[in-house]
Amino acid sequence: MGARLRVSSRVSEIGKSAIHEMTRLSREVEDAAFLSWAKPTSGTPEHIDAGAIEAIRAGLCSGYSGNAGLPELRQEICRKLKRDNAIDAEPSQILVTVGAIEGLAAAVMALIDPGDEVILPSPTYSTHARQVVIASGKPVFAPMIEEGGFVLDIDAIRAAITPKTRAILYCSPSNPTGTVFSEEQLRELAEVAIEHNLAVITDEAYEYFTFDGHEHFSIGSIPEMRGRVVSCYTFTKTYAMTGWRIGYLHADDELIPQITKAHIPFAICAPVVSQYAALAALKGPQDCVAGFREHYRSARDLMCERLDQLPNVFQYTKPAGSYLMFPRILLDEGRDSAAFCKKLLREARVSTTPGAAFGPTGEGHLRLSFCVTEEEINKAFGRMEQYFG
Ligand SMILES: Cc1ncc(COP(=O)(O)O)c(C=O)c1O
Repeated sequence: MGARLRVSSRVSEIGKSAIHEMTRLSREVEDAAFLSWAKPTSGTPEHIDAGAIEAIRAGLCSGYSGNAGLPELRQEICRKLKRDNAIDAEPSQILVTVGAIEGLAAAVMALIDPGDEVILPSPTYSTHARQVVIASGKPVFAPMIEEGGFVLDIDAIRAAITPKTRAILYCSPSNPTGTVFSEEQLRELAEVAIEHNLAVITDEAYEYFTFDGHEHFSIGSIPEMRGRVVSCYTFTKTYAMTGWRIGYLHADDELIPQITKAHIPFAICAPVVSQYAALAALKGPQDCVAGFREHYRSARDLMCERLDQLPNVFQYTKPAGSYLMFPRILLDEGRDSAAFCKKLLREARVSTTPGAAFGPTGEGHLRLSFCVTEEEINKAFGRMEQYFG
């Protein structure tokens, strides 16, 4: 018999990811229609591939870069932050990371001591809560307001603050709800953070995917927030580069060396070939981003039209951003979203993600991704219409 080793409590406390569980189960179902993944279906634009290939051929990718990333990439990132996020950054305030996810993890590690509390608007991206647990912190969920489309509830956030609260961590545009937090609300949130001396960690992975005139606002652009915000971004969603694992964060001079200390033991540096690809992405034409946005908008519209055909089954708010939506299941059996999603997969061959995976306010919902082809949406909804009669 093999040895039975004790697993750290911080890791064993983490439950199975419902997203990965659904992926595993979906593989067992022949020809399942997939609405469960938040990854772009389009390939990385050619000019970005070409930038990476050129760097490989020039022999630039075989060694580590500096821990913080290539200086020329950090320079370009500063230009982008100024242009698109109204953040005045210096290259020394940028850390290039292994996707947004590693940047978020490093930020949490740098800011959270065991037992510290981090407020997460709920529902939210499940990985954020796991990052807090791995840092031996405590995720505290503050419900969002479902009426009106899961808007930020500033009063609920205030009510969740205790002497142990250290940070607020949110994503906007939101995974899973598609909400885009308004500038006005984020300014209110900033006031709360200042009043209670809290850090704010942002996940702005979907910053370019907003629709119908909704605009993305970066809380890091508020001058009074300098020193207390870690703003995390990614190339992976913006340029359809999820496999390249490349993102970055911005924080103030005081914080950035501390976050870098947390980044090094997990990554040393971000993959250098991907850093060159990211450089090509920033320096190259940006119309690919507009193209992706337009595709997601039209896929969203199609998904909403198809949902309208199932008014007794789902109730939803049209997402203002990201490429995800979060309808409420109106049927009684939807109260257990995990069981509902498994049944839908087995009996209708449609793969979705249970809302319970996104925090306590997520139960009774399911997450649908419209980052898929129109054909996939039609296939999934054709089956659901038949299934629900
Ligand atoms: C809100 C959010 N943040 C971060 C990520 C992961 O980003 P990255 O690929 O840059 O690590 C995802 C992926 O689904 C996401 O939905």
